[in-house]
Formats: sequence, C-alpha cells, structure tokens
Amino acid sequence: MLPLRPDIRNMTGYVPGFQPKDGQKWIKLNTNENPYPPSPKVVEALLAEIGADGGNLRQYPDAASQAGREAGARLYGFDPSWVILANGSDELLNNLIRAFADAGEEVAYVHPSYSYYSTLAEIQGARVKTFTLTQDWELDGFPERYSGKLFFLTNPNAPLGYAFPGAFIEDLAGRVEGALVVDEAYVDFADENSLELVRKFENVIVTRTLSKSYSLAGMRLGLAIAHPEVISALDKIRDHYNLDRLAQAAATAALGDQAYFRNCVARIRATRDWFSTELQVIGYGVVPSQGNYVFATPPDRDGKRVYEALYARRILVRHFSDPVLVHGLRISIGTREEMEKTLAALREIG
Ligand SMILES: Cc1ncc(COP(=O)(O)O)c(C=O)c1O
Repeated sequence: MLPLRPDIRNMTGYVPGFQPKDGQKWIKLNTNENPYPPSPKVVEALLAEIGADGGNLRQYPDAASQAGREAGARLYGFDPSWVILANGSDELLNNLIRAFADAGEEVAYVHPSYSYYSTLAEIQGARVKTFTLTQDWELDGFPERYSGKLFFLTNPNAPLGYAFPGAFIEDLAGRVEGALVVDEAYVDFADENSLELVRKFENVIVTRTLSKSYSLAGMRLGLAIAHPEVISALDKIRDHYNLDRLAQAAATAALGDQAYFRNCVARIRATRDWFSTELQVIGYGVVPSQGNYVFATPPDRDGKRVYEALYARRILVRHFSDPVLVHGLRISIGTREEMEKTLAALREIG
C-alpha cells in the first residue's frame, strides 16, 4: 500500500453533478449552468488570444492575471489590490480555508448549503460546525461572538435559493471573529449583494464565479473581492500560473460586456419567476429563489420519484439524498422553451 495520508485515503471526495456524455439530447438542469452562450466578445477575445497559428500559447500567461483583476476592480468599484482571479471560485474557497484555518481549527457554515465546504474542510483537517436557519432568520445556537476561523455563507443559498437579508449578513460580519466568506456564486441573479460589507469589515470576503451569470463554467473562472491583506495571502498560496491565457482573455472580455450580461441575466430571472409561479399552479411548493435555480417540492413530497420520472424523459435535475432536502428537487433555469417542456413533463408525471 502506498504511504498516503490515512484521512485522504479514506475520504469520499466531492462528487460533482452528473455530466451526460450525449449532452445535446438532454435538457440539462442539474448544475446551474447558463443556457445561453457567453458574450460574442468572449469568442472574439479567445480567437484573438489563440492567434492564427496558436503561437501565443507557447508562452506562459500573465501570472497575476492583471488585466482581469483590473476589469473586475473597475466593474465593482474597488482598487485592483482588492481583487483576485482564480481557476473557478472553488479554487478561492479552497485557498481561503488554507489561509485561515489550520488542521484541527474550526470552520462553519449553514446547513444546507454548498456541499463542497465539507470536502475542503476534510482535506485541510479542519473541524466543521454547521448551523441551521430558524424561521426568524436566526442561526440556531449561534453565539454572540463566533470564534471559529472561517464562516462560509452561501448567498443566495444553494440549493434552496433564498437570499439572506442584508441586515442579517451585517450582523453576522460583526459577530464572526475569523473570516466571513460570502459565497456569491449566484448573486448576479439576486436583488442585493454584500460588496459594501467588504469595505466596512476587513474580515468580509466576497467570492464570485463567472460559471453561472457569465456562461463560462467551461473556462473555470472565479473572482474574490477582499481586503488587500487577504488578497495578498491568496496570491501567495495559489498556483503561480493559476489562470491560463484563454481564461484570462475570456474573463476580461466577459466582465467588459455588461450590456450582454445584463440582458442574459434579465432573461433568466424572468424565466425563473414565471417557472416558479407555474410550479405552484400545479401544486408544487417553491422556495422563493434569488438564484438561477428553484428548489421545488412535489405535492407527494417524493423528490426521488419525480427525479427518476424526469430522468426517464431525458430531463436532468438535481436530487439530494440529504434528509433535509430529500423531499424536493433543485431545478436549474434553462431557456423558456426548456422550462416549458419541463413543466409539461411535470404535469404529465403528476
Ligand atoms: C454555492 C457555490 N459556490 C461556488 C461554486 C463553484 O463555482 P465555480 O464554478 O466558480 O468553481 C458553486 C458551483 O456550483 C456553487 O454552487
């Protein structure tokens, strides 16, 4: 047997959403991808970066991804020293745990939320504490001062889709002694974000992704906005060439085309709101969503049955075995046509 760390040998590892091989034949609503292509400016920038003979690819990319940082900084109104780009926001979440929590120290998050946090904590050997949200927007058992090293808050929540009120997040920022990471993977589909809290509290870190609202899941691009001390720590521990040339070109072009971005987000929000209403008409329970997905519960609360019936019709959604989610389904928002077909299938399935 190879001398692997026993905890790594025995860990399950993160299981990403299922990617069907014959992707075209499915209505794929299981990993919150964007149904629309990225901005045409992204395609132009990628072709320009490759060049006629691919010669640019001989050379390493800019290690600092400076152009992308500056595009992000301009867009969000921060100095570039407050911004970092990454190979997906997963890379940022990983490096944030490494930067703040040593083995044996505590990290926390709300349950249910993004399941990757527990995998990251396990790799780091950090202890995990989870809190549940009460009906009154309180975290059950949360102390007046929380002394753990890092708290992940997924806002809007995934997989449920609700958004925490601004006052709740601000209160949390004041009570968390370590880092408060607001994972805003879906915030572009929401009404509010926490960027102002980054200016106000030096322990608040906002992470974003270009996978969802910018249609770039395939490029792996994430971004964090935080105090320069945090950014500098993240710069020390990341892979030195963490973003390849194509990813950097795509990031700059995508962030720079806000007209395309706004139009795309508006279409998805409109489809989400229409779909949520229609689901309720056929008797589903729906958590009001601020993301590009809805968490919906069929009338008989048998999420698995409906998941399987949709699967048989080549419609792929997400079903979680977690006891607090098992009754429902997370359905990503596709095009209006895809959602009409999904709704028709749900009516048929009953
Ligand atoms: C809440 C949340 N955070 C982060 C991520 C990771 O995004 P990325 O594709 O940028 O790694 C996801 C992806 O599904 C997510 O749901």
